[in-house]
Amino acid sequence: MAKTKIAVLTGGGDAPGLNAVIYALTRSCKRNMDCELIGYKFGYRGLYHNDFMPLTMESTTGILHKGGTILYSSNKDNLFNYALEENGQIVKKDVSDIAVENMKKEGVDVLVVLGGDGTLTSARDFARKGVNVVGIPKTIDNDLVCTEQTFGFDSAVNIVAENLGRLHTTTESHHRVMVVEVMGRSAGWLALQSGIAGSADVILIPEIPYSLDKVVEKIYERDARGKYFTIIVVTEGAIEKGGAAVVGKMVADSPDPVRFGGIAAKIAMDLEKLVVHEIRSCALGHIQRGGDTSAFDRVLSVRYGVAAADLIRAKKFGNMVCFREGRMDYVSLEDVISGVCAGKSKNVDPHGELVRVAKDLGITFGD
Ligand code: F6P
Repeated sequence: MAKTKIAVLTGGGDAPGLNAVIYALTRSCKRNMDCELIGYKFGYRGLYHNDFMPLTMESTTGILHKGGTILYSSNKDNLFNYALEENGQIVKKDVSDIAVENMKKEGVDVLVVLGGDGTLTSARDFARKGVNVVGIPKTIDNDLVCTEQTFGFDSAVNIVAENLGRLHTTTESHHRVMVVEVMGRSAGWLALQSGIAGSADVILIPEIPYSLDKVVEKIYERDARGKYFTIIVVTEGAIEKGGAAVVGKMVADSPDPVRFGGIAAKIAMDLEKLVVHEIRSCALGHIQRGGDTSAFDRVLSVRYGVAAADLIRAKKFGNMVCFREGRMDYVSLEDVISGVCAGKSKNVDPHGELVRVAKDLGITFGD
C-alpha cells in the first residue's frame, strides 16, 4: 500500500499546546502507519504558496512544552475570499482551487487543520471540496462549540492568575483599584476562571452586562472591611448595561476583523469620577498567549494529537476531534460550523455553577 501523505497547518491566533499537538500527531502517525508528514507555513497562506516543511521525528523533537507554533500562523488568510493585488488594486478572490491543486501536486492525502472558528470554517469548506480533512480545535478563549475544553485555555488561565497575584501586592501597597483586562473576545471563560483562581474582587464578563454603580458599591464595601484595595478583572469584550463593547482596532482581511481592547482603561477613567481611590489599569495582552504550555494543556494537546492520528487511520474525514465527558471523541465539521452542538459559540452561563461559586466567594459581577 502507498505511503499516506499528511499535511498539517496551524491557523488563527496561536495558543499554547499547538506544538504539543504537532509533536503527538507526528509520533502517533509515524508509529502506527506508513506515512510522511509535512507542515504548511503560516496557515492557509502556506497552502496557497505551496510553502511547507517536513515534519519528522527530528524536526519535531523538543517542542512538546513550547508555546507558539513551529509552523507559524496567520489569522488573515481565508483562501475562499483571499486578498490579492491586481493592477494596483486589492481584490478578493476564491483561490481554494489553487490550494487543492497544490495538495494534489504534492500527493497530500490528508489535511490536518488546527484552528479556531475561522480556520475550521475553511476546513469544512475544503472538506466540501472533497479534501480529506481532520480538524483540531484551538483557542485560549475556550469558546468553541462541540468540545468541552480547548488546549491553550488552561495555560492562559495560569498566566492571568499568576499576574493577578503580582498585581495584588502592588495594588494593596498603594490602596488602589486595579482594572485588569484579559482576552476572551465575547466569552468570559478566561476572566471567570482566572479571576476565581487569582482572588479577584470583581469579574466583568460579556455574558453579564455590568453597571459601574455595583462596582463602586463593592469598592466601598471592601473599604468598610479594612480592605482598601480592589482587583477588577474584565474580559476585553465585556459590555456595560446599555453600552457597547470597546473596539481597539480592526484587522482587515481577518475573517473576524474586530479586535477588542481598551475597556480596562475606559473603566478606570469612568471609575475615577465615582470613587476617591487612585485607579490604575493594565491590559495583559499577548502575554496571555506566550511562554510555555501548562502541564494540563500538554497532556490535553497530546491527547488531541493522538486522537487526530486515530481518525486518519480510521479514514474518518470531515470531522473535528473533540473532548467530551473526560474523553476524546469526534464530531462532524459540518455540525461544528453550523452550530448544531450548542449555537455558534460557547459562552459562560450567567446562571451556571461557576458564576454561583464565584458569587458565593463574594465576587461581584456588576449585575
Ligand atoms: O481568539 C484568541 C485571541 O487571543 C482573543 O482572545 C483576542 O481577542 C485575539 O485572539 C487577539 O488577536 P490578535 O492576535 O490578532 O491580536
